[in-house]
Amino acid sequence: MTASRTPAKHYSPLAIGAPEPFRALPVTLERMIHFLPPHNEKIRAKLKDTIRQVDVVLGNLEDAVAASEKEQARAGFVSMAREHDFGATGLWTRINCLNSPWALDDITTIVAEAGDKLDVMMLPKVEGPWDVHYLDQLLAQLEARHKVRKPILIHAILETAEGVKNVEAIAAASPRMHGMSLGPADLAASRGMKTTRVGGGHPDYGVLADAGKEAQGARAFYQQDLWHYTVGKMVDACLSYGLKPFYGPFGDFSDPAACEAQFRNAFLQGCLGAWSLHPTQIEIAKRVFSPDPKEVLFAKKILAAMPDGTGAVMIEGKMQDDATWKQAKVIVDLARIVAAKDPALAKAYEL
Ligand code: GLV
Ligand code: MG
Repeated sequence: MTASRTPAKHYSPLAIGAPEPFRALPVTLERMIHFLPPHNEKIRAKLKDTIRQVDVVLGNLEDAVAASEKEQARAGFVSMAREHDFGATGLWTRINCLNSPWALDDITTIVAEAGDKLDVMMLPKVEGPWDVHYLDQLLAQLEARHKVRKPILIHAILETAEGVKNVEAIAAASPRMHGMSLGPADLAASRGMKTTRVGGGHPDYGVLADAGKEAQGARAFYQQDLWHYTVGKMVDACLSYGLKPFYGPFGDFSDPAACEAQFRNAFLQGCLGAWSLHPTQIEIAKRVFSPDPKEVLFAKKILAAMPDGTGAVMIEGKMQDDATWKQAKVIVDLARIVAAKDPALAKAYEL
């Protein structure tokens, strides 16, 4: 007895007239999910340029929008969706959480008025598959009613202790799942972590070098990545279900080096992008989540040296086999997606 639908029903729409769920996620570049406050007219006025600069534009309706501005933010999102052509840039929204007074109107209004423009709905504070099932069913009903032609995907924020505990069931909950982002600020609070930051490290979380005989004077202290465990757990859950994992926000805009280091750890662990909350973080995410040209050129050599992906060869003194061939393919596949959008990188990758 399992809680999921049978394989035969897994991909059938949840409402008569709703679009068929995707069998595989559309191939899109999502190095940064750029957060905007949709009720801010000055920011909306610059949207045409922003669309050209980023991979995903997200209209944020949840935290950081005051209760008194929730309705203006929702209306602002609908106007930005209707007034612009987003081309290859994704259009997402982060709705309010399901137990809030705003979620139902966020969902019904946005699907009714901008359903055909919306690629992904980000759902905060997801605790288990039941949250995804609810939104999945409601979206299907609304898609059918408003004749939305392409399924709206769900992206869960992993930001409660219970959500982390249930991460695999969340990933498996629906073919509408796009992926997940780590929400380090809410997660820290939910877990009772003793921090006051939005993502990033903490100077006191680390290990002290051994007090061996050699240690003379001050012992070195090595700071560790507070998010390593959660990112690893999220990446495994996502990749085993064909979903995309993302690092979330980095709140200290005065420390771009630390932001870059945190994004890079996530990239190396398997994440495909991060949130940009400030314009300066757009370039950081582009740099980090586009593979390094040196790595791409080396990966291309591996693929060329092992045309059918089997056997063992030496390249520049390093052993290559079927497993490094697969790693090389991950890098080159990503480089091709980046190259399609970025002519300068296409040249550097020689693609
Ligand atoms: C994001 O929503 C977070 O809580 O970190
Ligand atoms: Mg949060």
